[in-house]
Formats: sequence, structure tokens, C-alpha cells
Amino acid sequence: MTVGDVPAVYDIEQQSFPSGSWTMDAFYHELEKNEFGHYFVMTLDDQVIGYLGLWIVIDQAQITTVAIAETLRGCGYGQLLLEYVMNYARMTCEMMSLEVREENAAARHVYEKLGFSYGGLRRDYYGPGQDAKVMWVRLKNE
Ligand SMILES: CC(C)(COP(=O)(O)OP(=O)(O)OC[C@H]1O[C@@H](n2cnc3c(N)ncnc32)[C@H](O)[C@@H]1OP(=O)(O)O)[C@@H](O)C(=O)NCCC(=O)NCCS
Repeated sequence: MTVGDVPAVYDIEQQSFPSGSWTMDAFYHELEKNEFGHYFVMTLDDQVIGYLGLWIVIDQAQITTVAIAETLRGCGYGQLLLEYVMNYARMTCEMMSLEVREENAAARHVYEKLGFSYGGLRRDYYGPGQDAKVMWVRLKNE
């Protein structure tokens, strides 16, 4: 993801997280100021159709955000983007984790398909009474 991608990313962000989307400034900050941030876009015919953010700290990778354009969901792009990023992180990281809402069945389905399992609960992560499930996957074999 580059600074020039942010407006297109922000469109998808608003479709995807209407009650708590990141601001454009949050994306600019991640790209320009966060030394731990690694941000990716997926494009189709030169159009941004999805994005994913990672923080990599030493050998741990944490997904900060991921979304695919609403009209293109269910076509396999989300899985493809996650697989790409898992391979990227595997070069330096032992583990990858993320947070997901219990009711986000589509996202949980993709994560489970890719080997993520439950690691615990973060209470009130999305706001009062809105807990997050933490999921994680080992990227390297023992
Ligand atoms: C999560 C997300 C990125 C997945 O992207 P995608 O391109 O739709 O994912 P894929 O097409 O690769 O896979 C979707 C899978 O979910 C399944 N699915 C769709 N709706 C589902 C539901 N309600 N319950 C269970 N599974 C569901 C599909 O059948 C498909 O699985 P399959 O390949 O085994 O058939 C996308 O749904 C999205 O952008 N959601 C909004 C933002 C979001 O919630 N991000 C995650 C925050 S943790």
C-alpha cells in the first residue's frame, strides 16, 4: 500500500466497518510513521479491491486490518491475500495473530481454513460489551 492507495482503501474501509472505520489519517500514519507497519493492497485491473495491514514486532506478526470490496467478497480474494501475507511474514515470524468478532462468521471461516485457532478473548475490544476473539497460527514448523 502506498499513500496514493489510501483513498481507495478508505472507500473499502467504510463499506467494511461502518460503525468503527479507521480514518484516512490513520492509514497515512501507519504508512509514514509506524516502523512496525507493513501494509498491502490487492488489485484487479489496476483497481484496489482489498487491503491488509500487519504489525511485525521481532518474530510476531499481528494483523491490524483486512477487508475485500463488498461486491467482490466470496470469490476467494480474501483467502489469497491472507495466504500471500502469511508467506511474507513467515520469512521472519514464528506466529501470526488477529482479533475477530464472534459474529463475523465469514472471516472466522477463512481464518480457520488457513489454520488459525482460538487463543483467547479480549474483553470490550470493540467497545463496551463487544469482545474480540484472538486467533493465532504458527507460521513455522517446529
Ligand atoms: C473477511 C473477508 C476479508 C473475507 O474476504 P473474502 O474475499 O470474502 O474471502 P474468501 O472469498 O476467500 O472466503 C470467504 C469464505 O467465507 C465463507 N462464508 C461467507 N459467508 C459466510 C458466513 N456467513 N458464514 C460462514 N462462512 C461464510 C465463504 O463460503 C468462503 O468460504 P469457502 O471458500 O470455504 O467457500 C471479507 O468478508 C471482508 O472484507 N469482510 C468485511 C471486513 C472484515 O470483516 N474483515 C475482517 C475483520 S477480523
